Amino acid sequence: MKILFIGDIIGKYGRRIAEACIPSLSREYLPDIIIANGENSAHGYGITEKVYKELMDMGIDVITMGNHIWDKKEIAKSIEKFPNMLRPANYPDIVPGKTFIFFEKNGSKLAVTNLLGRTFLPPMDCPFQAIEKLLPIIKKETNLIIVDVHAEATSEKCALGWLLDGKVSAVIGTHTHVMTADERILPQGAAFITDVGMVGCMDSIIGMKKDQILRRFITQMHDKFEPAEGGPGLFNAVFLEIDPASGKATAIKRIAKIIEG
Ligand SMILES: [Fe+2]
Ligand SMILES: [Fe+2]
Repeated sequence: MKILFIGDIIGKYGRRIAEACIPSLSREYLPDIIIANGENSAHGYGITEKVYKELMDMGIDVITMGNHIWDKKEIAKSIEKFPNMLRPANYPDIVPGKTFIFFEKNGSKLAVTNLLGRTFLPPMDCPFQAIEKLLPIIKKETNLIIVDVHAEATSEKCALGWLLDGKVSAVIGTHTHVMTADERILPQGAAFITDVGMVGCMDSIIGMKKDQILRRFITQMHDKFEPAEGGPGLFNAVFLEIDPASGKATAIKRIAKIIEG
């Protein structure tokens, strides 16, 4: 099974870059499924129904989220309108939203799930225990499992990678918006990368307007952050191949495209 996993898509400009890159990458890599992190897709903060539909229309099949999932208030009231979107599995059980999604293609069934880290992020239930609880349920259906670990600390993502090696097909980090060059297949067959990166404006600070972020760092005063716009645009993703018989990864490749304009 072939999978294209796209990093955090930042605002309108990120959506434009994603729209520009997905068709040619689909022709080149022939993915069975396209997964993207959408937590910043609506003006940098969360997602709306309109943006969700736009991402689906681009050919994205499953949207993972993160710490920005609830930024747009409408989502908590109407999460059933986002059927192909995940919420991180380690929110308390009473929180609405899907913690895993099954996706079938060519006779193979893939599960996608999403976790939030706890280091340098707001308090959250334990991601290590949450995934251990979830895996037996998912594994009744399939061994092909992709986990988006949305976390700040490289060590926490690395730890989850080692915990899940031999249990899932891939552990893909998101959230920092900076692609790491440590992609590999762990000894028991889980593809791993600490962070897949982002889709958005390159001349920015992690996709947001650099002046606003700089002012915040220098003054420590609260300021509004907005997505940066204009080229060059950066498109980060990983391409994965999974053996459908064993559920083990056979390839992980970083994709980093720079788009002028
Ligand atoms: Fe993000
Ligand atoms: Fe995030």
